[in-house]
Amino acid sequence: MPESLYENLPVPDLSPDGRRQVRMAKWTRYGDAQAAWLAEHDLGAPPEVRARLHELVAGGAFGYHFEPENVLGSFSQWTTQRHGWTPDPELGILTENVLQGIWLGVEVFTQPGDGVVISTPIYPPFLDISPSTARRQVEWPMYRDDQGWHNDLDGLESLLAGDPGIRLMVLCHPHNPTGVVFTEAELARIVALATQHNVKIISDEIHGDLVHPGAKHIPMLTIPGAEACTVTLASGVKTFGFGGIKCAVAQTANENLLENLQSVSAKLLGGGANRMGAEATVAAWDNGQSWVDELKLILDANRHCLVDRLAAELPRVRVHLPQATFLGWLDFSAYSPDDRTDKWLLRHTGIAGQDGENFGAQGANHVRFTFGVAPELLNQMIDQMVEGLPGI
Ligand SMILES: Cc1ncc(COP(=O)(O)O)c(C=O)c1O
Repeated sequence: MPESLYENLPVPDLSPDGRRQVRMAKWTRYGDAQAAWLAEHDLGAPPEVRARLHELVAGGAFGYHFEPENVLGSFSQWTTQRHGWTPDPELGILTENVLQGIWLGVEVFTQPGDGVVISTPIYPPFLDISPSTARRQVEWPMYRDDQGWHNDLDGLESLLAGDPGIRLMVLCHPHNPTGVVFTEAELARIVALATQHNVKIISDEIHGDLVHPGAKHIPMLTIPGAEACTVTLASGVKTFGFGGIKCAVAQTANENLLENLQSVSAKLLGGGANRMGAEATVAAWDNGQSWVDELKLILDANRHCLVDRLAAELPRVRVHLPQATFLGWLDFSAYSPDDRTDKWLLRHTGIAGQDGENFGAQGANHVRFTFGVAPELLNQMIDQMVEGLPGI
């Protein structure tokens, strides 16, 4: 992309007012409140992404088009550089978004009545799988100790041993809302259990780029044996903040699993990704390495700021340092909120978070708090919490 294109690019206003002007869901749903409820950062997108989209708009590229740019090839290069994993572009498909990939996996790998494992508390749409598909929800609860949240691998083993009707695990890797990252040993054990019990794995790795120092994202499909049972879902949406323009990848390492995915008509899937989304994704994956390195510095500093300031100024709020994501999982149990926790927090502080009970029963008294904002804004939000809630 020629340098001059960047020079002439308008710079978007990423402030709350700027976000409201372009009617972003995150900043309009709760009026003037500080928006921390949606899993979207407000730190912009790489200039190459904006330049490519400008170019398409300037050229009026709105009509039908052939297969979007080489999204799967760009994905493979991106994950090679970022995570040491080189998926085969021939063994993936595009979907409109990651959730479509999950529902596709449920459709092709399970029958009505089959069990689908999800680890709770969990990103709310996972709790819709069972009611919307007549599959059986099998909860694999995480547990918490003084160090934070953890996966209970022995518990998973017992679940699978006791329920032969389980056919699928839908994993959130890294985990929304707790920010927990699976270790290599945990992934290997999950693959061994899936193999033993003939269970497929959908590994939702949409937050995989946003793992902070001290932890490492290990793509599920790098684990020996995973290729026979795993479909990995990914996209640039969380990393680059372009959830509105739709493009995701469903990657396999096995022709049989690819055929399974392709057994559902592309017509039912809306024909794949949106062109703008696909082109933005390619521009991001082809050019975004150093931009993401900088984004991660901000997010890493923000997670420490949130956890350290709460520990010092509001010690009754229980929170653990997330290993990944821009999401804080705040426990307000010590306050015994007298209403739904998100409403209680909004009333006292003007912060609109996402209510913990949306993530399942373990989310009682919790709020998920998005800290992917400019550091000044984060500090302002924490100030509001400090002013609105008693510290001791
Ligand atoms: C774990 C996880 N999966 C999927 C999504 C949604 O992705 P998409 O918009 O591509 O369906 C989100 C968004 O917050 C998420 O956190």
